[in-house]
Amino acid sequence: MTTNARAKILLAFFSFIALTFSTLPSAWAADSNLKGIRGSFFDFVDDPWKHVGKEEESARFYSDGLLVLDNGIVKDFGAYGDLSGKYPGLAVTKISGRLILPGFISGHIHVPQTRVLGAYGQQLLPWLQDWIFPEEQKYQDPAYAKKGTKLFFDDLLAGGTTTCLAFVAPFKSATEEFFDEATRRNMRVIGGLAGIDRHAPPEFMTPPDRFYRETKELIEKYHNKGRNLYAITPRFAYGASPELLEACGKLRREYPDTWVNTHVSENPTETKTAAREAGCADYLGVYEKYGLVGPRFVGGHGVWLSDDEFERLHNKGAAIAFCPCSNLFLGSGLFRLGRATDPKCRVLLTFGDDMGGGNRFSLIHVLDEAYKVGMCNNTMLDGSVDPRCQNPAEAERNKLNAYRAFWSITLGGAVGLYADKWIGNFNKGKEADFVVLDWNGGPPATRWHQSLICDDNGPKNMKEAENLLFGIMAVGDDRAVDETWIMGKRAYKRAVETAANVAPTGPDVQ
Ligand code: GUN
Ligand code: ZN
Repeated sequence: MTTNARAKILLAFFSFIALTFSTLPSAWAADSNLKGIRGSFFDFVDDPWKHVGKEEESARFYSDGLLVLDNGIVKDFGAYGDLSGKYPGLAVTKISGRLILPGFISGHIHVPQTRVLGAYGQQLLPWLQDWIFPEEQKYQDPAYAKKGTKLFFDDLLAGGTTTCLAFVAPFKSATEEFFDEATRRNMRVIGGLAGIDRHAPPEFMTPPDRFYRETKELIEKYHNKGRNLYAITPRFAYGASPELLEACGKLRREYPDTWVNTHVSENPTETKTAAREAGCADYLGVYEKYGLVGPRFVGGHGVWLSDDEFERLHNKGAAIAFCPCSNLFLGSGLFRLGRATDPKCRVLLTFGDDMGGGNRFSLIHVLDEAYKVGMCNNTMLDGSVDPRCQNPAEAERNKLNAYRAFWSITLGGAVGLYADKWIGNFNKGKEADFVVLDWNGGPPATRWHQSLICDDNGPKNMKEAENLLFGIMAVGDDRAVDETWIMGKRAYKRAVETAANVAPTGPDVQ
C-alpha cells in the first residue's frame, strides 16, 4: 500500500470517529439501560462493631437520595441534589414515604420446610424425625418440589430477603428446581443438596457415593452460573458417616471456591453425640477432621460452642449463622453474641431465619428475637446471678442496637458469607437488590411509635433513621416490607394495605 493510500485510510478512520462522537446525544440519556430510584436510603459503608458508641459512622443515610442503575448494577449513589445534574434525561422512579435498604440476607434457611414451619412441641432431634424428614421426603416428587420451591421464593421476597444460603432436599431434581427458580427470578443464592446418611429413615438417606456424584454434577451445572453459587452441604455431623464427610472434603478440594454449609453445636444432645461418635473432642473438630472449616464455611447455630471453638473459627475465617427464632422455637439455647463478637477473636457472623426450625420467614423477626437473646445473655453477665460472671464488655456486645442489627442482615451478612463483592450495600458495582420499608406497615402500634420519632414524611437525619429502624424490628414486623427489588426490578409488592395504614390509631402525641 502506498503512503498516500495509507494516509487516506487513516483520515477516513479519524473522520468516522469524530463524526460518531459529535452526533451522540447526551451520553446518559442515550443509554436506555440506565435508570434511577429516588427516595430515602439507608445502608452501611463499614462494620458498626468497629465503631462502638459511634455506630452512625458506619452507616450512610440520604433523606433524598438517588440510586443510579445500569442494567441492575449500581452505577452511582448519593444525594439527589448532588447527582441528578450528572444524569440529564434519566428515567427516575420516585419512592416516597418509605426507607430503602439493601436486600436482606438470610445466612441459613431450609427450602423444603416451607410447608411445615411452626410445628408443635419438640426439640431438634425428635422434631426432625417426626416433622421434617417426612416433609422433605415429599420433595422427591418433582411436582411437589416445584410448588414448594415457588412458595419458598415468594415468601422470601415477601420478607424482604433477596439472598439466602439454603439447604435443599436430598434429591438432585429438587436442588435443580431450587437453582432454576432462583435463575428465573434472577436472585443471588447459595445452596446445595443436603446430604444425610445416619440417624434418618433409610429412604431419606443419601449414600456417600451418590452424594459425591450428584453434588459434583450440580456444582458443574450451577456454580458461578448467573447468580448461582454452590454450597457443599453435609446436613450435620450428627447425621453424617465418615464416608459422607470424606466425600465433602474431596469435593471441597476439587472445587475450592465453593461454600460449605452445615449445622454445628445447635442442641446439647446432638452436640455431645456428634463429637463422641466421630471420636473428636468437640463438634467443630468433626468438620476440621475432614478439612471443611475455612473461608466460606458456614455453621448454623453454634449455640453450644466453647471459647476454644470460637477461637478456631476466628483463626480460620469461618462463619456462624445466628438463628435466634429457631434457637428459641426449638429450645436449643441462647447464642453468645457478645462472645462471638469479642474483638480479640471475632467470628464472622451471618443471621438466618432457619425457617422451619425458625417459625418466621422474616429477618425483621430474626432481629427482634436476636435482641432478646442478647438481653437474656446479659442476665448472666451483669453479675446479678453470679458476681464472678460479671463482664461489662461482653454484656455491651450482647446489645443489638439498630446499626448492629441491620448491618447483620445486609452488609454484615454478605461479609459473613464472603458475598460482599456482589451484594450488601449500594456501593458502585454492586448488584441492586433492595427492600422498601414502610415503617407503619406492622401493627397499629408502629404508627404511634413512628410519630414519636419523626413526621409522616420519614426520617430527616441519621438519628431518626436509627430510631425508626429499631422501632421496625422491636415493634413492627414483616408487614413493614412494602416492596422487594431484584437487580433494579420490582419483584414483590405488598398486596393489601394494612389496617394501620388505612385507619391510623393510637394515642395523640403532643
Ligand atoms: N440440623 C440438621 N437438620 C436440621 C434442620 O433441618 N433444622 C435445624 N434447625 N437443625 C438441623
Ligand atoms: Zn437449619
